[in-house]
Amino acid sequence: MKTVKLVSEVRAEICSMKKRGQRIGFVPTMGYLHEGHLSLVKRSVEECDATVVSIFVNPTQFGPAEDYSRYPRDSARDGELLRSRDTDLLFIPTVEEIYGEGFSTFVEVGGLSEKLEGSIRPGHFRGVCTVVCKLFNIVSPDKAYFGWKDAQQLIIIRKMSEELNIPVEIEGCPIFREADGLAASSRNVYIPREKRRYAVALYMGLSRIRDLLDNHGIRDAARLLKEGRKTVEEYPGVELQYLEIVDPDDLSTVKTIDGKVLVLGAIRISGVRLIDNMFAGDK
Ligand code: PAF
Repeated sequence: MKTVKLVSEVRAEICSMKKRGQRIGFVPTMGYLHEGHLSLVKRSVEECDATVVSIFVNPTQFGPAEDYSRYPRDSARDGELLRSRDTDLLFIPTVEEIYGEGFSTFVEVGGLSEKLEGSIRPGHFRGVCTVVCKLFNIVSPDKAYFGWKDAQQLIIIRKMSEELNIPVEIEGCPIFREADGLAASSRNVYIPREKRRYAVALYMGLSRIRDLLDNHGIRDAARLLKEGRKTVEEYPGVELQYLEIVDPDDLSTVKTIDGKVLVLGAIRISGVRLIDNMFAGDK
C-alpha cells in the first residue's frame, strides 16, 4: 500500500492504474476506522482491481459548535488496518491541500440537504457534497462505497453524482452492528462505559417500529413513531433528537405505509450524537 498526501501524487498513481486497465474502487472516510469502514474496503477489494481509501476529517461539514477538533484521529493505526485489508493507495491530505487559500466553491443538493440531519446540522451536507465531489474529481473512481448508516448522506451523494454527471457507481453497503445492535461509528469511543448499554436505545426504537409494521401490520406512521419514541425513552440519559419514517427515494414523510420505507433517527447520550436507521415495510 502506498500512502500519499498530495493531489498530484494521487493523480499520478491513478493514471498508472488506469493505464494498466484497472477498475478503481474508492472508500472516502474521516478515519478512526472501525469494522463498518473495513466492510466497505472489503467490498471494494472484492469488486475492483485497485482500492483507494482517503482519510480526511473534513472541516466544512462540521458546524462551529460541533466536534471537529476533538473528532478521533489515529492515522498510524488506520494505515496498519488498511494495509492488512489489501488497500492499494491511501490518500491523507492536509486541510490546505483540499481547501487552498481563498477557497469559495461549494456543492449543494437542494431540498434533501435541509431535512432530518440537515435541519439539526445546517450546512453539513454542503460540506459533505463539496469534499466528496472534490475527492471524486481527484480519484476518478469507477465505484465508490458508502455505508447505509449515513443513509441521508448516501441518498444525497447518489443524487449529486447523477445530477452533476459524475461517472461513478455509488454502492451502498449494509450497516455493521455490534453484538447488541449498536451501529458501528467512530464516535462510539466517546460513549462513557457506564452508559454504553443505553446507547442501543435508538436501535431498539427502530426495531420496535419495524416489528410493529412488518409483523403486526400497523401501517399508521404516527402510531408507529409513538411506539418507537416510547421505546427510546425507556433508556435513561438518552435524548431523542428526531425519529421519522420516510420514503427512501426522496426522504419525504410517509403517513400511511404501503411499501418500503426508511425509519431513521438521532439521539444524544452523554453529549455524544448517534444516528441510525432501518428499512421496513418491504415484507
Ligand atoms: O461519512 C463520512 O465519513 C464523511 O461524511 C465522508 C463521506 C468521508 C465525507 O467527508
